[in-house]
Amino acid sequence: MNRVQNIRVQNIQGLLRKIISSVIQPGDVVCDLTAGLGRDTLFLAQEVGEKGVVHAFDIQEIALQETKKLLSSHGLENRVILYQRNHGEVKEIVQEPIRIAMFNLGYLPGHDQEIITQGPSTLAALEGVLDLLLPGGVISMTLYRGHQGGDEEGLMVEEYLSSLNKRKYSVLRGEYINQSKGAPFWIIVQKNKGDSP
Ligand SMILES: C[S@@+](CC[C@H](N)C(=O)[O-])C[C@H]1O[C@@H](n2cnc3c(N)ncnc32)[C@H](O)[C@@H]1O
Repeated sequence: MNRVQNIRVQNIQGLLRKIISSVIQPGDVVCDLTAGLGRDTLFLAQEVGEKGVVHAFDIQEIALQETKKLLSSHGLENRVILYQRNHGEVKEIVQEPIRIAMFNLGYLPGHDQEIITQGPSTLAALEGVLDLLLPGGVISMTLYRGHQGGDEEGLMVEEYLSSLNKRKYSVLRGEYINQSKGAPFWIIVQKNKGDSP
């Protein structure tokens, strides 16, 4: 029997990756909506295998350069298509059904903290990937509240996702209740296989 090992609740990204690993299949098409330094893109490229495709978006050239560099150092650039585009345009760019979409919101670590994800385009991207998601497919989101606009964006995302039909989607939110109110939190959306009761 397969066992999930080494869960560290302290590490949101690690926790979300465990969930994604249990859903993703070799040859899948998946999306990283916020490529940033490329760590999630690299993880997805490793998980989809040599026949899979990762569509990775970022509005900043420096982010795509960093992502490309990281992928090249692992010999995985061929599995990834990079777009210097607003992720709100995902539906115009990606045409195939996807199994996974990852969002890691906020700003690029170590760079301009004024270039941040924004509620309206984040919602447009969410709508886009919800339409593309396969039954059983998962959207993971990491949200931050410490920067300007982070709270508002989080509220917009929560309001939108809490209105989804529960027969079609399961939406789960996780947060640290022993940390400050500004600590990051996560949301997982899964498209149910068939209608749930
Ligand atoms: C927290 S970082 C992502 C970290 C990344 N997932 C990693 O593994 O390193 C957020 C990224 O979102 C990007 N971003 C902000 N607004 C965006 C938009 N509208 N469309 C696409 N990317 C955006 C920023 O440029 C930044 O690189």
